[in-house]
Amino acid sequence: MFTKQTLQEKTILVTGGGSGLGLSMATKFAELGAKIAICGRTKDKLERAADELKMKGAANVAFYSVDVRDFDAVGDMMQNIDKDLGNLNVLVNNAAGNFLAASEDVSPNAFKSIVDIVLTGTFNCSQHFGNLLISKKREGSILNIVTTYTQTGSAFVLPSACAKAGVYAMTNTLAYEWATYNIRVNSIAPGPFPTEGAWSRLMPDPKMEKEYIRQIPAGRYGEHEELANLATFMISDLAPYITGECVNIDGGERLKSGQFNFITQAGPRPVLKQFFSMMKPGK
Ligand code: HXC
Repeated sequence: MFTKQTLQEKTILVTGGGSGLGLSMATKFAELGAKIAICGRTKDKLERAADELKMKGAANVAFYSVDVRDFDAVGDMMQNIDKDLGNLNVLVNNAAGNFLAASEDVSPNAFKSIVDIVLTGTFNCSQHFGNLLISKKREGSILNIVTTYTQTGSAFVLPSACAKAGVYAMTNTLAYEWATYNIRVNSIAPGPFPTEGAWSRLMPDPKMEKEYIRQIPAGRYGEHEELANLATFMISDLAPYITGECVNIDGGERLKSGQFNFITQAGPRPVLKQFFSMMKPGK
């Protein structure tokens, strides 16, 4: 589906691109011909990531030590990317913060900190990016990384759930408003894709992983490559009519509340089928 030229007309900013899923997406985009800008708070991490991208053959990479919470610094960065790499036309809002805590214990500052990174950070980047493209009469697209719990909420991640729900609303709002400027706005909701950053904060005990994986219908975690492929499709010229869409990529995990789903765990499939046939009228 993809070739080395798929993203050759793209200059892409991946926020939080110094590690984890952000770096995995940036790597895939670079392999498919894009110019890559990454930003984050930690210069050393970004430097290492940029070196890694270059080692893997990326021809045009730049990094910017910028906190997405800083509106003015984000604006300067957008202008600099346009100067350094040229023709910025894709923004991936990936930078995030999260931790596990009982909601009654979350301090106001902790709540603000996550909302500032996730929601305000996405606003800061999207507005500067949008204004840049509108002023240059340039087409482009935004891809927001949300979560499957934007729609359901989730215990113990209150600030993240609230902030990501806001990003989901922002996606649809901007998709409608900015279609007139040929700026598409979409999101991806990843389920379980382990990264050092997320799992060190969100998986309390490795022993709980077995139970967790049992609840994923696909029976496994997602591979970074799978997410990167979906992100590539969403930002590429293969999807010019898709806007305001949120694609879940979670091995079916979000559907676990289905009323009779528990039966899948009651025994091997042939045993279940035998049991179902015994329940047929007349048996
Ligand atoms: C309770 C916590 C906390 C924790 C921090 N705080 N960690 N409260 N439990 N584990 C509180 C602090 O006490 C402080 O409140 C406030 O949050 C701000 O903390 P700081 O460290 O000063 O803030 P800051 O440097 O801005 O750090 C932000 C951070 C940090 C989010 C708290 O963890 C961070 O930088 N994380 C970035 C990377 C990350 O989180 N990656 C995971 C993303 S995964 P007080 O009141 O004491 O001042 C993700 C995917 C979701 O989002 C989907 C998964 C399936």
